[in-house]
Amino acid sequence: MTHSSSRQRLFALVASVFLGALIGGCAGTQLAATPNEPPGEALFNARVHEDVNCYKCHNGDGTGTMRGPNLAKRVPGLSDDQIAKAIDEGPGLMPSFKGKVTPDETAQIIAWLRQRFPKAPQ
Ligand code: HEC
Repeated sequence: MTHSSSRQRLFALVASVFLGALIGGCAGTQLAATPNEPPGEALFNARVHEDVNCYKCHNGDGTGTMRGPNLAKRVPGLSDDQIAKAIDEGPGLMPSFKGKVTPDETAQIIAWLRQRFPKAPQ
């Protein structure tokens, strides 16, 4: 084994550990389902559509992970339209959920976020 190939292996190992942490290790935790769970909470926690998985980046309670911001710091300053736009378009590193949620479901997610993180006084 040459010196450079063992270095390359070390690099590959470090890179894969790092990527693993980035992709898997910082993922959010789903809130446990409750009997009278609000529909927006179920949606946010991927219990309605598998691919509507807000909790993975924002954590099940919306308080954020390494992959997505704490929504307590965003939602109070956003209008309903701005939240709907974020879900529709996906700002920055957030994916777009266009076509994955109905307008009613978007409204349910917004209602749940509002309940958790009330609007800032104007
Ligand atoms: C792959 C990770 C990821 C997923 C999944 C995700 N988000 Fe985000 N979200 C982000 C990131 C990153 C930002 C910050 C974007 C920025 O401001 O650059 C963000 C920002 C937001 C904001 C703030 C937008 C603003 O204008 O400040 C809201 C609201 C939001 N997300 C809601 C949701 C909802 C609801 C879902 C599920 C339908 C969701 N996110 C799914 C990563 C994610």
